[in-house]
Amino acid sequence: MILVTGGAGYIGSHMVWLLLEKGYEVVVIDNLEKGHKKAVLGGKFYNGDLKDREFLDRVFSENEISAVIHFAASSLVGESVQNPLKYYYNNVYGTLNLVDAMIKHNVKKIVFSSTAAVYGEPENIPILETDKTQPTNPYGETKLAIEKMLKWMDNAYGLKFVSLRYFNVAGAHPDGIIGEDHNPETHLIPIVLQAALGIRDKVIVYGNDYSTKDGTCIRDYIHVLDLCDAHLKALEYLEKYNVSDIFNLGNGMGFSVMEVIEKASEIVGKKIPYEIGPRRAGDPSVLVASSKKAQKVLGWQQQYNSLDVIISTAWRWHSLHPEGYSGKQD
Ligand code: UFG
Repeated sequence: MILVTGGAGYIGSHMVWLLLEKGYEVVVIDNLEKGHKKAVLGGKFYNGDLKDREFLDRVFSENEISAVIHFAASSLVGESVQNPLKYYYNNVYGTLNLVDAMIKHNVKKIVFSSTAAVYGEPENIPILETDKTQPTNPYGETKLAIEKMLKWMDNAYGLKFVSLRYFNVAGAHPDGIIGEDHNPETHLIPIVLQAALGIRDKVIVYGNDYSTKDGTCIRDYIHVLDLCDAHLKALEYLEKYNVSDIFNLGNGMGFSVMEVIEKASEIVGKKIPYEIGPRRAGDPSVLVASSKKAQKVLGWQQQYNSLDVIISTAWRWHSLHPEGYSGKQD
């Protein structure tokens, strides 16, 4: 049985779907602070928090868990700067409890959701796993602290981990059955699609004076199901080789904010209103991953790697569920 923490969240819910599809038995933990119960399409569900040690002990006692995929975390960069305590509690303390329960119950494999934010302002593009990690916000700092913690847990207790450093995750299940629904929404692609639906007036482009081709920031967008597939590969890798490692997950291609707005306009078939605003604090101008290591070592191959497919699948979800899960019937 695979335990998925944060399985009611955007990425976690796609992971649960994929695991079920591949025949795995799944246990989900989510405190539903950000997640949606309706997004969990199967498995055994526990509503609870990683900060609750007794709760974790119960989950591990009641289920034959062989490995953990750990998504549950607070993940808003801006909020982490305002409220770092929340990030240290939820991310570092929460993971510490999870790992503690794993060791007590002899579960020795974990796939961990890390982030490109561990690199901070990159020194090289594309970014390699061996590049310097120097986070510029508490969110990235807590994820890096966890990676380091996992290394020492491996050293002392033989807990094997694969840490996956995500770039910009986007898109949705192609059937539109699950998708992205954050409150507040801060990510570019859902914001652009909400502007297309008239749910918001316009997109504010955070600065067009960066030293990029059109002055707007460049990001590496990766489809959520490609990302989840890499987690499956990471599980298999842990199973087969029983060694810890760290991988970037991106597409290796960068698109500017304006390119995303233009592509989305083409897909939805109308002009999406936007306005150029000031820069957002802490945004690096370019973030593009090298994912060659994941491709080579894990044998990972993306299937949905065009911006067109990423935005089209997201559009299917948003147009079918303009109010997100609160408007979802089933
Ligand atoms: N952007 C806008 N307008 C918006 C929203 C975003 O112009 O309304 C721009 C941002 O400035 C950025 C790009 O669109 O240049 C993408 O922004 P997102 O907020 O969608 O994503 P980020 O690149 O800021 O963040 C992602 C992950 C974080 C992670 C970070 C690593 O969502 O969890 O990459 O730096 F920490």
